[in-house]
Amino acid sequence: MKRIDIKEIVQNKKKFVGKSVTVCGWVRTSRDSKTVAFLELNDGTTFKHMQIVLDKEVLKDVSTFLPLCTSLKVIGKVVVAANNAENVEINATKVEVLGECPPEYPIQKKPHSLEFLRTIPHLRMRTNTFNAMFRVRSVLTNAIHKYYLDRNYVYAHTPIITGSDCEGAGEGFKVTTIGFSSKFKTEEEYNAADFFGQSAGLTVSGQLEGEMMAMAFGKIYTFGPTFRAENSNTSRHAAEFWMNEPEVAFCDINGLIEIAEEFIKFITKFVLDNCKEELSFFERFYEKGLIEKLSSIVEKDFAKVDYTEAIEILKKCPKANEFVYPVEWGCDLQTEHERYLTEEHFARPCFVVNYPKDIKSFYMKQNDDGKTVAATDLLVPGVGEIIGGSEREADYEKLKNAIIERGMKISDYEQYLDLRKYGSVPHAGFGLGLERMLMYITGIGNIRDTAIFPRAKGELR
Ligand code: 4AD
Ligand code: MG
Repeated sequence: MKRIDIKEIVQNKKKFVGKSVTVCGWVRTSRDSKTVAFLELNDGTTFKHMQIVLDKEVLKDVSTFLPLCTSLKVIGKVVVAANNAENVEINATKVEVLGECPPEYPIQKKPHSLEFLRTIPHLRMRTNTFNAMFRVRSVLTNAIHKYYLDRNYVYAHTPIITGSDCEGAGEGFKVTTIGFSSKFKTEEEYNAADFFGQSAGLTVSGQLEGEMMAMAFGKIYTFGPTFRAENSNTSRHAAEFWMNEPEVAFCDINGLIEIAEEFIKFITKFVLDNCKEELSFFERFYEKGLIEKLSSIVEKDFAKVDYTEAIEILKKCPKANEFVYPVEWGCDLQTEHERYLTEEHFARPCFVVNYPKDIKSFYMKQNDDGKTVAATDLLVPGVGEIIGGSEREADYEKLKNAIIERGMKISDYEQYLDLRKYGSVPHAGFGLGLERMLMYITGIGNIRDTAIFPRAKGELR
């Protein structure tokens, strides 16, 4: 008999009641009594476990079926659950052990801390928390693709190995096959001898290549692994994370903000509609009021504030003296400032717009005031920045000067500059950090618990 997904049975209870089925999965809990034993089987297709009833008259020795995480093939009849007419369970007629699981299995019935579970990344996906997290991650990814594909965007795969540093922040990982040694007199000599004959690194953003695609397809998005050798060992920074970057031609900063808000609402609603059980679980164990929070993201307008005004708000706020980093026009907003704005002042997601040009990247559109650029960050309560974006400088000379001013090598950006020579148009784009969005959607406080195998400074399990 063909194996049936437990999700199929749970979603079509009426159709299955009275039928004989075969299900396979792992024992998540079990309980023994005199005449009957129960176990909860999970096959990963749904957050929900399927209760299996083992009648000892029928099955004789059930003891080998009960240890946690034993993998089983169960044949039995689907019946209405004895304790809840809304549910179904399976009365087993035949059970086969596919793989035993000895008592030293590290995940036991008692709750384990997230810190402990990080030490066993290969097993933690078998717990409820990570069953929920990685399914939400999958659904959220699907929502991101759906948003763009429904709106005529082209999905562009930008390279992982690049020769240029998009953010110009020097946070790139180097790619090398030989490694520097004393036989090279200079860095140039070493790079010339290396695999690509030049310096190469892992991408910190697909934006530059994304812009090239947008100049042909109008609307594109990239979505893939991104790498930053950030020294900051915080709960929000990963060395490897997934970034989604739409790039839109014929669009200015205001148009971009509209897209970003509509997009965040769309993907949040998609997860609300498709991950009800997972979100109820996160609400119960990780963030009270989570579902209401997510519903209000979908329903209420986001706030929007100019950087200059945000600085005034921060300087005058009751917490001004408590900030570790003092606030002055020109400073970069620190997490404490971002969180004050979005959590306390606006109490909702908030776009900060028009940052000082000296603290932002070279490619951002220079505003007429000569001091600021048309950039925006989206800040959300509990996490801080989840999106960074901008209108792009579409003027050849201004862009070239911005590259020179920052001491970057013009020769590394010749292709990028060409875009401003050949049919340049106003365009804009942003980057969403998938893991930051997952923190926001699930209420999980550490980015290490949103990636299947988290990579951060000093951590590569
Ligand atoms: O603000 P960032 O640095 O913007 C860019 O990289 C632009 N090229 C995007 C664009 O305009 N196309 O990064 C964008 C987002 C951040 O808001 C954050 O959510 C996420 O990427 N991010 C990180 N997430 C986890 N760990 C890190 N180290 C991250 N660095 C950035
Ligand atoms: Mg940023």
